[in-house]
Amino acid sequence: MLQVLKIGGAVLTEKDRPFRLRRGEAERIAHEIRAALNRHRGMKLVLVHGGGSFGHYVAKAFLDNVGMIDVEGFCTIAGYMDELNRAVVEILNLYGVPAVSVTPRALFFLRSDGSVEAHSNVICKLLERNIVPVLYGDVVASDEGFKILSGDLIAWFLASVFKADRLLFGTAVDGVYDRDPTKFRDARFLSRLSLTMFSNRSASFAGSVRYDVTGGMMSKLSYGVKYIDSVGEVIIFNALRKGYVYKALTGGRIRCTRILP
Ligand SMILES: Nc1ncnc2c1ncn2[C@@H]1O[C@H](COP(=O)(O)OP(=O)(O)OP(=O)(O)O)[C@@H](O)[C@H]1O
Ligand SMILES: [Mg+2]
Repeated sequence: MLQVLKIGGAVLTEKDRPFRLRRGEAERIAHEIRAALNRHRGMKLVLVHGGGSFGHYVAKAFLDNVGMIDVEGFCTIAGYMDELNRAVVEILNLYGVPAVSVTPRALFFLRSDGSVEAHSNVICKLLERNIVPVLYGDVVASDEGFKILSGDLIAWFLASVFKADRLLFGTAVDGVYDRDPTKFRDARFLSRLSLTMFSNRSASFAGSVRYDVTGGMMSKLSYGVKYIDSVGEVIIFNALRKGYVYKALTGGRIRCTRILP
């Protein structure tokens, strides 16, 4: 059983306050991951975390002020993401998860067409030795200077390369809605979402459901179109809910959105 779990930066950090780790949430999640590993001894697990108020904040500052990620931006963003990752891995280790940091910029290259090149066999070797590799949204070299490689894309890519049984996205909302639930109180929850329908939404949903998936959730879904066929179950759930990371990893019943091809 191989699972890829992406924990959103929206869960691990206070997204609207720069450089704020939510230590309590990180500790609870580390505890739940350890409990899931205890329950299923043979489970192989890849963890990916997002940038939250570390990565997104610094990257935005460079994109707004310089208009691109230059050499200084590359080094600065890398430094802040490493800082967040160090804190996350330390907490995982504290709770007994055999986690080690795997720096994406050392393994990944982003082509200008958006496709990914990676030395993922290194991660395979760690999994074979029951290590939990921890990757994260990062800055990487690309055909055109430096680019941001999102944790979501890393999660989809690795789940597809390793033909993961489950790909789990833990974020700060219960799943996908027809509109941003943090902005629209009447947003309708979707317990299933077909990516084919999603990518053809303008044609197939015209006049029926009004799709307005934007921002973080939009890209999380659109990356999947290319990879979903080689992944087992794909679930988006709320990792701020107590016990949900444990339940998601052990196949328990949770309120979530199932992403289908
Ligand atoms: N249709 C939608 N359904 C659900 N959430 C949506 C939708 N449209 C926009 N969102 C927003 O997307 C957010 C989740 O994406 P976000 O990128 O903030 O989280 P994350 O990916 O977990 O964090 P990070 O990018 O730092 O790893 C939600 O908090 C919500 O406000
Ligand atoms: Mg995101």
